[in-house]
Amino acid sequence: MTRFILGIDTSCDDTGVGIVELVPASGGTGGGVEVRANRVWSQTVHAQYGGVMPELASREHVERIDSILGDALAESGLDLTDLGAVAATSGPGLVGALLVGLMYGKGLAQALGVPFYAAHHLEGHIFAAASEEQLQAPYLALVVSGGHTHLFDVVQEGDYRLVGATLDDAAGEAFDKVARLCGLGYPGGPAISEAATRGDPDAVPFKEPLKGQKAFDFSFSGLKTAALLAHKAGAKPEDLAASFERAAVGFLVKTTVRAAEHLGRRTVVVSGGVAANRALRDAFAQTGLHVVFPGKGLNTDNGAMIALAGAAAIRAGREPSPLSVGAQAYAPL
Ligand code: KG4
Ligand code: ZN
Repeated sequence: MTRFILGIDTSCDDTGVGIVELVPASGGTGGGVEVRANRVWSQTVHAQYGGVMPELASREHVERIDSILGDALAESGLDLTDLGAVAATSGPGLVGALLVGLMYGKGLAQALGVPFYAAHHLEGHIFAAASEEQLQAPYLALVVSGGHTHLFDVVQEGDYRLVGATLDDAAGEAFDKVARLCGLGYPGGPAISEAATRGDPDAVPFKEPLKGQKAFDFSFSGLKTAALLAHKAGAKPEDLAASFERAAVGFLVKTTVRAAEHLGRRTVVVSGGVAANRALRDAFAQTGLHVVFPGKGLNTDNGAMIALAGAAAIRAGREPSPLSVGAQAYAPL
């Protein structure tokens, strides 16, 4: 049986390599999966441009991936020959960046003579929560990151139905833009959170986006515009941060709870970079739903989440991917 699975994510500007262990069932326990290593190199070269430069991202992945793999092996105490399978992100993301990890993973799998699994980046974000407990479908999965705000109904492993998505900006993107507006730095999410602890959440009124909608979609452009107007009117950055955070978190939680009630789901996975947000975690804890968040270091892009997606595919008896699988910039789940 496959025991150790390597996961690689190079979809954007983080070089992530992780290793998980499939723990066999024994003595009445159903078995599980344990994260043995998770190493991420976050590229800083883009800061001077105010956005990710695709060509620079690819080159940095090429330069870093060997040493990040070495670090992950050292952290796990394993050797390359211990690996029983390799998983890598094939999309969505920047094609040049994706190709680095994908080709590296395929080459490694072939050299080691082990199966290769191509993983969807969002599947990785969802299965990041499997670090905390074995996920039992059906459940809802809210993926909130810098590039995505998607709500899926996971009917069973491999059967994902899109319930709602953002109509404009992703949630993390809105945090980043409001943080930049307030001069709070990048990445904006943690900066907003920190400033919010010193601000008054009642200081700036924000209208609930898409109020009254029957669907389960998201929208952040209205909050962003309201933040801009409040900033121009002289709102203090910490008050703006506190008020914006409360509005964004309230909207995310309310929409997800409505969807859970509508579909009769009791368990919700909340993952992606924004899932690291303390206020979001606290608000979900008040909902009465069984909410599962990824463990530390597994919210933002990383390799262990891709290894966890690989582990889920293996558990479900999915066939390995053909080595002809290519990188895809846009890929629905
Ligand atoms: O998942 P991720 O690393 O990358 C994408 O796939 O997009 O998410 C990064 C995003 C950034 O927009 C960042 O501002 C946001 O996650 N983020 C947060 C927090 N930590 C990271 N947003 C709100 N609160 C946080 N504590
Ligand atoms: Zn991501």
